[in-house]
Amino acid sequence: MQDTIPVLTIDGPSGAGKGTAARAVAARLGWNFLDSGAIYRALAVAVVDRGVSREDESALAALAASLDLVFGADSTARILLWDADISGRIVTEECGNLASKLAAFPAVRQALLDKQRGFRRPPGLVADGRDMGTVVFPDAPYKVFLTASAEVRARRRYNQLKQKGIDVSLAHLTEEIEERDRRDRERQIAPLRAAADAVVIDSSDLSVDEVIQVCLSVVQSH
Ligand code: DC
Repeated sequence: MQDTIPVLTIDGPSGAGKGTAARAVAARLGWNFLDSGAIYRALAVAVVDRGVSREDESALAALAASLDLVFGADSTARILLWDADISGRIVTEECGNLASKLAAFPAVRQALLDKQRGFRRPPGLVADGRDMGTVVFPDAPYKVFLTASAEVRARRRYNQLKQKGIDVSLAHLTEEIEERDRRDRERQIAPLRAAADAVVIDSSDLSVDEVIQVCLSVVQSH
């Protein structure tokens, strides 16, 4: 039954514009939305709060399996972890970096699979992440891999964080983003890469609206 529910996967490195586009496309289609990065980020918050060792793979997997997460139904990206609003805490680069480190453990990824697949509900799902099209929803009928040059991605993240009132230096952010992407690309399990059947889009010179249009056309042209 689940397999008949359509999914559009949008994977790519950080700052490629996936989040904004994916959320908007989900709203346009009236489909559900999965921000899988937010789940890994929530795990990072839980690790800090519970003092779990960042090296203990089985303890991390157990914690991942126990996460009680509630996502806001609107487009405000609100997220509750064990009833506490952690929306503000998950947006920092520090949280993204820890999430990326924890995401390299196979048992952690395995523990989060069912949680992610549970988002596949009628009438459809737009799933944003690194391995949506390759591992989590390999049978998705619509797949996009969104890239952009490293400079553009760092600048976008910089503007995004600034808007949220978070102060960072562009040079430092560029370094952090490059390091995180290298880790996500080079990890042994579910590395960041385009699915063989994904439409690859370079968003460096595209506006947000243009990216949304291209994603919609991938769904509508099938
Ligand atoms: O998309 P994001 O920046 O919120 O993701 C934070 C980190 O979580 C990312 O650097 C790697 C990890 N992640 C992952 O391994 N697989 C996903 N599907 C989504 C995120």
